[in-house]
Amino acid sequence: MSARPTNIVLIGFMGSGKSSIGRIVARRMGFQFLDTDALIVERAGRSVPTIFAEQGEEKFRDLETGAIESLAQHSRCVIATGGGAVLRERNRALLRELGLVVLLAASEEVLFERVSRNDRRPLLQTENPRETLGQMLAGRREVYEAAAEHVVDTSHFTHRQSADAVIAAARRAFSWKTGP
Ligand code: S3P
Repeated sequence: MSARPTNIVLIGFMGSGKSSIGRIVARRMGFQFLDTDALIVERAGRSVPTIFAEQGEEKFRDLETGAIESLAQHSRCVIATGGGAVLRERNRALLRELGLVVLLAASEEVLFERVSRNDRRPLLQTENPRETLGQMLAGRREVYEAAAEHVVDTSHFTHRQSADAVIAAARRAFSWKTGP
């Protein structure tokens, strides 16, 4: 089997900081930052909420798998995934092949506080978003943990501290003794 490419794949629930922390990690490591939601939007020519509203979640998930597949030849990237990317077994396998899979975890309270800052997430546009988030998180937690090779709990960290923890894990995984 050939060696895995040198990528960092960030997984985690909505609001776990995958994009913000991923950008910091990429900048500090000299890697490219990629975001599967952004790839989907670029390819579909419509926003995530519009895809959900007009084509439904399954179509979104198909586009998500296509976006992950399109990354196969990349290396030296930080790849932020959508919160539901790990739900499909095929995606989990693809993400593992892409690089080091790091889970950004956070408590339910912290996640809710973070996602409440905007209304960009169609799955949380319910009558009781707090309850929806709790139920989704309970249903997904095990999947995230099983998919991850390394976990960073971001609940009490600044983005910079979380980025430090991701970089330390990546350096160990890539067997880098010092900076890249
Ligand atoms: C989703 C998370 C979102 C986006 C879509 C579905 C999910 O990404 O992919 O709204 O199922 O958890 P973020 O985790 O970047 O918010």
